[in-house]
Amino acid sequence: MNNDAKKAVLRMIPYGIYVLTADDGKGNIAAATVNWVTQSAFAPPLVVMGVKADSGTYKIVKAAQVFALNMLGKEQKNLAFTFFRPADVSEGKISGQPFRKGQTGAPILIDAPGAVECRVTAVVEQGDHHIVVGEVVEAHLQKPITGRPDAAILEMKDLGDNVFYGG
Ligand SMILES: Cc1cc2nc3c(=O)[nH]c(=O)nc-3n(C[C@H](O)[C@H](O)[C@H](O)COP(=O)(O)O)c2cc1C
Repeated sequence: MNNDAKKAVLRMIPYGIYVLTADDGKGNIAAATVNWVTQSAFAPPLVVMGVKADSGTYKIVKAAQVFALNMLGKEQKNLAFTFFRPADVSEGKISGQPFRKGQTGAPILIDAPGAVECRVTAVVEQGDHHIVVGEVVEAHLQKPITGRPDAAILEMKDLGDNVFYGG
């Protein structure tokens, strides 16, 4: 295989940017910026995401069996960069960001324009990132969206010419 072609072609896949959060109920809270996310079924509503198998986030999601995907708005690049680093919880905030517990117990970022809460239904353990399948059990919209919902959210290409996760 031509590795340069593999890298370039896989980087043609467009991605949104999300903050994955989870709380294992034992004092461990995860919040990580992820892009390997998509919906994969209507009924039941399923999402899948690729989660780094050796990350703290993966451990907490597996223990919690629930997670939230927080959407980021076009203007929230700073939040994307904040959650590329391991999360730190203090004074009731995750890495300085206010949050509340959702119906499943997963943290919902107050400033996120939307979020879904999911129950883990399967994990596919292949490669250095494992696929976590989640059934959407609750959804939060900060305020009604005008226009296309997907036009309102932050995308990988908004983060600059040198930011990629893929290839
Ligand atoms: C542009 C970009 C995209 C990322 N996408 C993912 C992803 O889809 N899945 C993932 O597990 N980690 C992804 N990461 C890495 C996580 O953001 C990072 O490992 C995490 O925030 C560190 O937290 P932890 O190791 O404490 O869990 C991405 C990082 C960058 C810079």
